[in-house]
Amino acid sequence: MESVIVAIDGPSGTGKSSTSKAVAAELGLSYLDTGAQYRAITWWMISNGIDTTDAAAIASASGKPVIESGTDPAAPTITVDGADASGPIRTQEVTAKVSAVSAVPEVRSRITELQRSIAAAAEKGIVVEGRDIGTTVLPDADLKIFLTASPEARAARRSGELKGKEAADLATTREALIKRDAADSSRKTSPLAKADDAVEVDTSDLTLAQVIECVVTLVEEKR
Ligand code: C5P
Repeated sequence: MESVIVAIDGPSGTGKSSTSKAVAAELGLSYLDTGAQYRAITWWMISNGIDTTDAAAIASASGKPVIESGTDPAAPTITVDGADASGPIRTQEVTAKVSAVSAVPEVRSRITELQRSIAAAAEKGIVVEGRDIGTTVLPDADLKIFLTASPEARAARRSGELKGKEAADLATTREALIKRDAADSSRKTSPLAKADDAVEVDTSDLTLAQVIECVVTLVEEKR
């Protein structure tokens, strides 16, 4: 079976993570959540008292944390300086600050390099999900998918993912999503964008199983 590189981009709440993990598992490929890496570096900045609105401070600290991603789609991991960061990177504080940190060019070049080396090491191939994978990180990917969904569908999905005391109402979630997407789409360095050669899939009215089936079929056509 030939190695295949799949880039899955799109805004938050479009089903990127669930789809990417399931497709990778079904096809025996590795999986990389690049949003988790940007969240991890953001969490490290917060934990180390770095002002996340100070781009110069972020740039000069960007090389310090050691970020490692485990690429098994059944149990993806993320560590910072050897410690499990999978819980802390999902807090609302990290979510609110990640767009500012990930807009800093030094952060992007460092994380992009890490992503490329992980993709190159994946012998059987990999599904990489993010915002700029098809346009910037892996422009030669065998298949590029751009997932979209209406703001309502995205907010409903994200609200469902938030648990316990962090659970937000739909309107607040919708507002936060729109704000984060606007920041991600308008930054200067590798913004959230659809690659010219990406296949766009609107997931608003599709079940997760239907999206997975659609992407698996597209990958199989490329193999
Ligand atoms: O995918 P997730 O919502 O966890 O991503 C968190 C944030 O990380 C995004 O809002 C964006 O600011 C940043 N990100 C990025 N480029 C990527 C993946 C994520 O800038 N390839």
